Amino acid sequence: MKKLVNDARLYLGVARRIGYTMTLGMFNSDRRNSLLSLYQVYRHQQNPEDIIPVDPFIIPKTDVFELLGNDHATCEGVYECGFGHTTEFELKVISNLVKKLNPKTIFEIGTFQGRTTLNMALNTEPDAKIITLDLPSSDLDSTQMKIEEGEIRYVKKESSGERFVGHPMAYKINQVYGDSATFSFAEYENSVDLAFIDGSHAYEYVLNDSRKILSIMRTGGLIIWHDYTNWQGVWSALNELYQTDYQFKNIRHIGGTSIAILEVV
Ligand SMILES: C[S@@+](CC[C@H](N)C(=O)[O-])C[C@H]1O[C@@H](n2cnc3c(N)ncnc32)[C@H](O)[C@@H]1O
Repeated sequence: MKKLVNDARLYLGVARRIGYTMTLGMFNSDRRNSLLSLYQVYRHQQNPEDIIPVDPFIIPKTDVFELLGNDHATCEGVYECGFGHTTEFELKVISNLVKKLNPKTIFEIGTFQGRTTLNMALNTEPDAKIITLDLPSSDLDSTQMKIEEGEIRYVKKESSGERFVGHPMAYKINQVYGDSATFSFAEYENSVDLAFIDGSHAYEYVLNDSRKILSIMRTGGLIIWHDYTNWQGVWSALNELYQTDYQFKNIRHIGGTSIAILEVV
């Protein structure tokens, strides 16, 4: 009921703002920028076939890490990024966090092509291990909870982890398969130093994955969520956890990214 009221408030608030932005707000540059941000979000949720394949942005890329010289991480495939990936900047943020925290055991929910998995492997010590869980395409119709329509395309794929398969860092990575709602996390209890939650973005899944991951974390470990600002399921679940569960009261959103983090105490 509380969620229903919150959702209704959210929709009404957004509808009012969009109404203003599409009329009088067009004369306000902040409003025009907000519209552009919204467009960017939906652009990433289109069908890949609808996207013009030629990248019109020919100017070489850089970011604050490169400009300010405080990029300590080693990265690969940063700019080879598209649907279902962390952005260039987010990948660097995650890689730098990994490099700084030096985790021995990492658990990721949602392997996809393994771009973030590989970059986490690149920034850990030789004896670190990364377990990455992915839902096999064959299990798409038998998940315990409903996944979002818009994420079916990330599940339906020939293989998981092609970015790291055959890479010298692949020895650190252990691929496991299953539905995060039914997967047995028990054997990892109290062993994970860093976790990356980026599986299903449906509200129930984000709640499930957050609680399951918390149950396997070591004290002092770090949980990282992707897509806090991009998917309603993610922000509804994280807002709820933040507001109602004391174990999640220290979640923080990293500004300028869709990443949320929690240091486990
Ligand atoms: C957005 S992609 C992950 C992107 C990847 N973490 C990265 O940074 O490049 C989401 C992944 O979660 C997986 N997934 C979706 N629902 C899942 C579930 N219930 N259990 C496990 N994995 C799931 C999908 O198969 C897909 O590979």
